[in-house]
Amino acid sequence: MQIKTKVTEMLGIEYPIIQGCMQWFATADLASAVSNAGGLGVISSASFASAEDLRTEIKRCKTLTSKPFAVNISLFPSLNAVGYHEHIKVCAEEGVKIMETAGRAPTEYIEEMKAAGMTVIHKCVAVKHALKAQSIGCDMVVIDGYEAAGHIGAFNTGTMVLTPSAVDALSIPVITAGGVCDGRSMAAALMLGAEGVYVGTRFFMTEECPASSEVKQTLADKYGELDTYIGLHPYKNDTRFVLNGLMKDVVALEAAGEPFEKVAPYVAGYRTRKFTQGGTDLDEGSLCIGEDIGLIKDVPTVKELIERMMDQCRSQLNRFN
Ligand SMILES: Cc1cc2nc3c(=O)[nH]c(=O)nc-3n(C[C@H](O)[C@H](O)[C@H](O)COP(=O)(O)O)c2cc1C
Repeated sequence: MQIKTKVTEMLGIEYPIIQGCMQWFATADLASAVSNAGGLGVISSASFASAEDLRTEIKRCKTLTSKPFAVNISLFPSLNAVGYHEHIKVCAEEGVKIMETAGRAPTEYIEEMKAAGMTVIHKCVAVKHALKAQSIGCDMVVIDGYEAAGHIGAFNTGTMVLTPSAVDALSIPVITAGGVCDGRSMAAALMLGAEGVYVGTRFFMTEECPASSEVKQTLADKYGELDTYIGLHPYKNDTRFVLNGLMKDVVALEAAGEPFEKVAPYVAGYRTRKFTQGGTDLDEGSLCIGEDIGLIKDVPTVKELIERMMDQCRSQLNRFN
């Protein structure tokens, strides 16, 4: 069974599977592996302090794959916000044809992305935000449910309700994110009307993800669906993290009503980045992880994972035939 959707058609990819943006981890290595395996790889621009560093990474990705890939611009509150216009300009110059935005509607950036002939995917956590993205000219939306890793917003709507609500409300294609980690959840998303799935935590847990194998194996062996924590809620920046040793300290600081300045050093990016620089101890940094970590027990290659997801998805969709 071929699974062709508006998303595969519009993006020119084989399977409707998009790799979630992951700061520090969504590098050319991971993105090209996903694109080569038939999905859409995404590079995190926030991992690159300067536009020229981003250019080098895009060039590297082009040497690793001839398939389409995207670049994400995360417009979230950040301790070290980068120059978004400069990043978009470099993407346009390098011929990147698919951009993903997240954090807030890309109102002041949409014109330049469209002028460069880019397809714009906007990721958000509420139907009202998806409608806004559609109204300013985004081509498709990723709708990210409460289960998801990372910035989940303040609406707390789970994937099962969010996807069909968005499908009913929007005329552009809807892509499901939040808890999609295998062919079962992929089939469920398609049945809810999604045109594709967007997968973060499960792609973190692959060989090509540049986090140390020790960190990934610790997550696979020891962490279940109850082992995540929505941190930064007191500072209006709800973010789902793995509940590791470091995050337990954050829980205590938040419970004590401490100001953000006390918590900031715990969630600083340099600690997370260490997992890509030889850091093997999961307790040493904050790390976004979704509830679906409880369903993930191994660390396959990207190709193995995508083939497994597609086989399982097809058999789930055929279940009642
Ligand atoms: C390690 C990690 C880092 C992430 N960093 C970002 C980021 O920089 N920008 C962003 O838009 N989303 C980020 N996310 C969220 C994912 O892009 C995606 O929305 C989410 O993982 C989907 O839920 P899932 O983990 O259940 O698949 C991150 C997720 C993970 C697991």
